[in-house]
Amino acid sequence: MNSLFNEFMLNVSMTGDIETDFYHFLLVNGHQKTAEHCLKVGRKAEQLAKIYGVDPYKAKIAGYLHDVSAIFPNSKRIVVAKALGLDILKEEEIFPMIIHQKISGVMAAEIFDIHDKEIISAIACHTTLKSNASKIDKVLFVADKIEWDQDGCPPYINQIEHSLKESIDAASYAYIKYLFDNKHNLKVVHPFLESAYKELKEQFKE
Ligand SMILES: [Fe+2]
Ligand SMILES: [Fe+2]
Repeated sequence: MNSLFNEFMLNVSMTGDIETDFYHFLLVNGHQKTAEHCLKVGRKAEQLAKIYGVDPYKAKIAGYLHDVSAIFPNSKRIVVAKALGLDILKEEEIFPMIIHQKISGVMAAEIFDIHDKEIISAIACHTTLKSNASKIDKVLFVADKIEWDQDGCPPYINQIEHSLKESIDAASYAYIKYLFDNKHNLKVVHPFLESAYKELKEQFKE
């Protein structure tokens, strides 16, 4: 495990049960709100997985771990990403919040011993999606948007719920289309998001 994580492990004892361990890890490190959010996203991802033919256990684990990098504030995320040897894009330098998805991917492997490529992929693109995304990538992406980490109801919830009746691709597109229809609110357009948008737009063109 990278020594960068040591200070966060001081009061953490791992049981091997991911649900217990991720929750305890976030709680001990002062992130109860994120722990609750991850719990809800894990359960929602599991539920969506059963409907759309994805391994429910993998989807649940991806949901539980997707935001564990909340332990690092935005101001430290680029330094942390560099120390972990991650590729840092210009858009991530400008708006470091977005790189939390990649940091969570590394933490899932190094702290929680999850090495399944599909789970890590879903975690590492849960904010932006990407082109050629797998079904589990989309399940986590959509679950995170339904169970969002802010107060009140997400403004796009009706579009997502309606599109879910069609497919998980349609729901992913509904959310991304909402973002691009309100592009002025985006701090940056992450290239992963842009390529996912292009691909889905082509798929759903009339
Ligand atoms: Fe996130
Ligand atoms: Fe999240």
